[in-house]
Amino acid sequence: MSSQSRQPGSHAACVVLVTGAGRGIGRAMADAHADAGAAVAYLDHDASLAEAAAQAARARGVKAVGLAADVADFAAVAAAARAAAEALGPVDVLVNNAGISPKGGADGRRAEAAEMDPAEWRRVIDVNLSGAFHCVRALAPGMKALGRGRIVNISSVAGRTYCDIVGVHYAATKAALIGFSKHLAGELGPYGVTVNAIAPGRIDTPMMRGTASAANEAVRLATPLRRLGQPEEVAATCLFLTSDAAGFVTGQVVDVAGGWLLT
Ligand SMILES: NC(=O)c1ccc[n+]([C@@H]2O[C@H](COP(=O)([O-])OP(=O)(O)OC[C@H]3O[C@@H](n4cnc5c(N)ncnc54)[C@H](O)[C@@H]3O)[C@@H](O)[C@H]2O)c1
Repeated sequence: MSSQSRQPGSHAACVVLVTGAGRGIGRAMADAHADAGAAVAYLDHDASLAEAAAQAARARGVKAVGLAADVADFAAVAAAARAAAEALGPVDVLVNNAGISPKGGADGRRAEAAEMDPAEWRRVIDVNLSGAFHCVRALAPGMKALGRGRIVNISSVAGRTYCDIVGVHYAATKAALIGFSKHLAGELGPYGVTVNAIAPGRIDTPMMRGTASAANEAVRLATPLRRLGQPEEVAATCLFLTSDAAGFVTGQVVDVAGGWLLT
């Protein structure tokens, strides 16, 4: 599968920063860009995951750096953005992927809104939504100065319609990322920067495995393609959206969901 997302050299001039790049979908997207010739900053709040991913890329001859930052912390994001530019050059591709989906309820299910701890609500907003803004705030000025750029925000089909696996905080942030993407596409388009969102369905990652297996099996059966997705399938779509080929695509939401929750 990974060969599908790898187009050697297509991103040779790019400097890419992916958040939540230590594992799962973020790691696959960062690796796909690295293997397409980009220099890549692997940002994660887990320093060891970030460094291990960057080290594996460097071992393949890629220019890569691991950065430890919590995207909810603007000062940490700004420092990481500076470190990425110092190590790799001006960042012209940002992938806002870091996200959390707490499953504090019984049997790996979400907490219901009526019982949710307000602190859990705030943390999900801070990471999933403010985190994306923090990265844009840190990196968009450089893209405007360059006169080019690509921003991809990882939303979810749970941001488009009701999904009984996730909590209301998660759904709210993923819906917000769609409005965030469309608004930024309007603001940044005149500077040559495109902004799009990807809405994955159920993708096989550590986050997904945190949900009860019966719930994941129910999603598989409700998905027209009758399977869960792989991180590399999201990465292939991301690689297209950050490529020259997608230069006239902006403000769009692309579902990578096997037809689950068609809207
Ligand atoms: N897996 C799915 O089925 C699915 C479906 C739709 C959308 N998504 C979205 O895709 C993105 C990636 O999901 P995944 O399944 O790979 O998740 P994951 O939990 O497997 O990986 C998330 C990564 O983000 C990092 N991270 C978490 N909080 C962070 C923070 N505050 N600052 C920096 N890094 C942080 C984690 O350390 C981890 O490496 C998320 O935004 C998620 O909401 C996932």
